[in-house]
Amino acid sequence: MKTRIDLLAMKQKNDKITMVTAYDYPSAKLVEQAGVEMILVGDSLGMVVLGYESTINVTIEDMIHHGKAARKGAQNTFIVLDMPFMSYHVSLVDSLRNATRIFQETQAQAIKVEGATEEVRVLIERLTQGGIPVVGHIGLTPQSVHVFGGFKIQGKDQSGANRILAEAKALEAAGAIACVLEGIPQELAEVITRELSIPTIGIGAGIHCDGQVLVYHDLLQYGTDRYPRFVKNYANVNQVSLTGLTEYVQDVKDNRFPEEKHTYTIHPDTQLPRVE
Ligand code: KIV
Ligand code: NA
Repeated sequence: MKTRIDLLAMKQKNDKITMVTAYDYPSAKLVEQAGVEMILVGDSLGMVVLGYESTINVTIEDMIHHGKAARKGAQNTFIVLDMPFMSYHVSLVDSLRNATRIFQETQAQAIKVEGATEEVRVLIERLTQGGIPVVGHIGLTPQSVHVFGGFKIQGKDQSGANRILAEAKALEAAGAIACVLEGIPQELAEVITRELSIPTIGIGAGIHCDGQVLVYHDLLQYGTDRYPRFVKNYANVNQVSLTGLTEYVQDVKDNRFPEEKHTYTIHPDTQLPRVE
């Protein structure tokens, strides 16, 4: 398993870091087999697994439930657990308690929080002091979609770009071990990546980040069918699955399944039970 120190060394050597989301046993198992360095149990699970419109309705219980399953599938991979909507904007005590639960019960290596407000930075400091590593996440942070007024690329103009660079530095100063940069111009991501000593993991942030993250279901076309510009589809699980399922339906209807080899037979000495 990679450690925080290994990830830092990868940045220094300019070895790219890969991160993919996973939300259950089979997906985490495949992601680990593929040699991905970091798994994110993201709150994107609300959309791609639970069918919600956004990440806003995901609960702590959902995150723990799926985080445990992902851990079972990937015992040897660095796992980051997302803190869900509003679970880290309650009192500091409750936010610390929520983060501790998520970290402990899923046996994660780190948790992730969105934004870089004073409140979030204090939380990062306190968690780090207590022994819970934190990954930051800035730019187009999906939990704030209603505040942004839609899924809009952030940091395109001067004030936005200045703000996001300042946020990145503040997260590093607070003790974040890495920072996800989402939905920002590649030029800004390049500057941030150069300015920070911790790794940047990009999604919709261009080639210059220290690593890249994609949502499992987007990467493999599994369940989802509309993709933002930053997604590249590397497989089509939808197609493979639909072909298989449709053939199964036809086979059953046409009495082609089950065949002899799928079927059990009674012991030769056994009299078949007779109905009286
Ligand atoms: O929940 C998620 O999948 C994420 C990534 C997009 C970074 O936070
Ligand atoms: Na997320």
